[in-house]
Amino acid sequence: MQDFAIEPLADERDLDGVIEVESESFTNPWTREMYISELRDRSVCHILVVRAGGLRVVGFCAFWLICDEIHINNLAIHPSFRRRGLGAALVQAVLAEAEALGAARATLEVRASNVTARDLYERHGFRLTATRRGYYTNPVEDALILWWEHGRAAQI
Ligand SMILES: CC(C)(COP(=O)(O)OP(=O)(O)OC[C@H]1O[C@@H](n2cnc3c(N)ncnc32)[C@H](O)[C@@H]1OP(=O)(O)O)[C@@H](O)C(=O)NCCC(=O)NCCS
Repeated sequence: MQDFAIEPLADERDLDGVIEVESESFTNPWTREMYISELRDRSVCHILVVRAGGLRVVGFCAFWLICDEIHINNLAIHPSFRRRGLGAALVQAVLAEAEALGAARATLEVRASNVTARDLYERHGFRLTATRRGYYTNPVEDALILWWEHGRAAQI
């Protein structure tokens, strides 16, 4: 997909887009109140949005910057815009932003059954390091903990 942009969340309207993508993508979606609470500390909470179809938010990634690590909390593309390379572009943008912020490592948790996301992350250099048994609810499922390190080769 050619006509898109990835940039920091700008305003309330962007947050509306994030909430919509969130609710379309996860069985336990974060609420607007949770995001507003997160955004009180912008030195820790960072959100990148993907704009396509004009200025519409069609994807986002919310992550924390903690010392020299980023913790990816949520990353999703709206179902109508998947399989067009936007997820890959977003992961690349997040890792570039992480490096710009001085982070050398990135981590996230993913449902064991989420083959799509696992494949996406592994292609960008994330590696499985641990499993948290029964971490997720609705449905109960193991979480896989993945790590990325600066300088480690991706398989794109
Ligand atoms: C995971 C997600 C972000 C991928 O977004 P996307 O825009 O469809 O991804 P892309 O089009 O950039 O695809 C990138 C790669 O992801 C993998 N992928 C994407 N969709 C896939 C599918 N249905 N099956 C298998 N692999 C898939 C492939 O490796 C793909 O590369 P390819 O198209 O060259 O085969 C999207 O499916 C999503 O939002 N899922 C729901 C939320 C979620 O699970 N987030 C991750 C939680 S940690």
